[in-house]
Amino acid sequence: MNLDHSIIEIVYLLSAILFVVGLKRLQSPATARAGNALAAVAMLLAIIATVVDAEILSWSGILIGMVIGSLVGAVAATRVAMTDMPQLVGIFNGFGGGASALVAITEFVSNPAVGASSAGITMMLGTLIGAVTFTGSFIAFAKLQELMTGNPITFPGQNAFNAVIFIGVLLLGAAALGVGGLAVSTQTLFWAFLAGGLILGILIVIPIGGADMPVVISLLNSYSGLAASAAGFVIGNMVLIISGALVGAAGLILTMLMCKGMNRSLANVAFGGFGGTAAAGVDRSLIGKRPVKRADAEAVAAELGYVNSVVIVPGYGLAVAQAQHELRKVGDLLQERGVTVRYAIHPVAGRMPGHMNVLLAEADVSYDKLFDLDEINDDFSNTDAVLIVGANDVCNPAARDPGSVIAGMPILDVDKARRVIVMKRSLSPGFAGIDNDLFYFDHTLMFFGDAKGSMSDLVRAVRELA
Ligand code: TAP
Repeated sequence: MNLDHSIIEIVYLLSAILFVVGLKRLQSPATARAGNALAAVAMLLAIIATVVDAEILSWSGILIGMVIGSLVGAVAATRVAMTDMPQLVGIFNGFGGGASALVAITEFVSNPAVGASSAGITMMLGTLIGAVTFTGSFIAFAKLQELMTGNPITFPGQNAFNAVIFIGVLLLGAAALGVGGLAVSTQTLFWAFLAGGLILGILIVIPIGGADMPVVISLLNSYSGLAASAAGFVIGNMVLIISGALVGAAGLILTMLMCKGMNRSLANVAFGGFGGTAAAGVDRSLIGKRPVKRADAEAVAAELGYVNSVVIVPGYGLAVAQAQHELRKVGDLLQERGVTVRYAIHPVAGRMPGHMNVLLAEADVSYDKLFDLDEINDDFSNTDAVLIVGANDVCNPAARDPGSVIAGMPILDVDKARRVIVMKRSLSPGFAGIDNDLFYFDHTLMFFGDAKGSMSDLVRAVRELA
């Protein structure tokens, strides 16, 4: 089928606009679903326009590809648990980077004498960023899926070694473009350059602890966007350039937001070896050794059911236990009793950006009850009771102590409320691997158990209140 090229360009422009509007709508949970759908439509339009324009495939080939792709996507989206989403995104990034690298590789192989022109440099950039993203993402996936150790893999002189490999790869890339006039074929130099890029991806990610993988995945997501943009320049495809740039910028912004939420620099994430050995220097033997006040479901129901205001703080444990539906029932029941119930969402609660928003949205908690850290922090001193479900680090007062490993991390000031109830299975630490003084405060009650069972017990106990 031969369409006028200007029609193709208009479809590309339309899909670029839809990408931008879709991304904008991802800003709020209320419009995020629609934003996602718009971006998916944009992608479909872009793919159809490209395959029609390039006339590289038959319609039956396109249909078969779409059916297989949709099936894989649908199965992944419905079968993968929310807590496993970061590794799914990691794998998708890897494929994105790999695809962009293949585009750049194909162009170079069919035009090896391209030389150090802007086209040649773009091909090298697309190949390098795509290759690093490909292997880096698979290492990130393997760490999160526990197919390999999640601990940082380090060795003496690692940063210097990685720097030498990086410079070597850059020199190989330049040589493959004819710079330096080596007596080795440009193809051979190019394959060595590609191999170097693949190795670099592995080397960059292995020293980072499994616990920091969500940040790394977001960064690799940004890289996959840059690789796609470079591939777009290589083949002169406008929509690929625009969408790649959008992914690159969005991934970088998200990475920076996560670092800010933890008060850590990107360099600390990349080279700090945090997670696994996170609490090095912290005396773990003291964790859980101090006395706490315990409460059962009945006592907790009485604490929550006869007051004016309750703030619920969800965390990673809520996601692990999948107790969001029971939690919402608790919230609804309290509200029916005239209690004002709000949910406080910390920017890095859980293991991925927006984790708690998605979880609560799944349980149909209305968005107007969700409050960000900045919106609710001043209100804790006027709050009667706080119910913390499976959260730990995000409300650890140790963040106020300059000597702590989480020093400076913004926290929810839950300890300022009149009563604090912490629901978790034990006194074990959270992601950062450090004890939490909050558990031992005078006005804190520990409600031990698995979040799902405990929230069901609490639903029953609140129903039984007079
Ligand atoms: P954490 O500090 O990791 O604490 C989660 C708590 O949940 C644990 O202490 C655990 O205690 C409890 N838990 C686990 N399974 C449970 C279950 N089935 N029922 C009840 N409780 C359960 O979580 P958080 O407060 O949400 O903080 C998130 C952490 O992840 C932060 O340190 C943050 O920096 C880090 N992080 C987040 C992100 C993003 S973007 N969200 C990215 C990278 C890192 P028990 O074992 O005693 O039950």
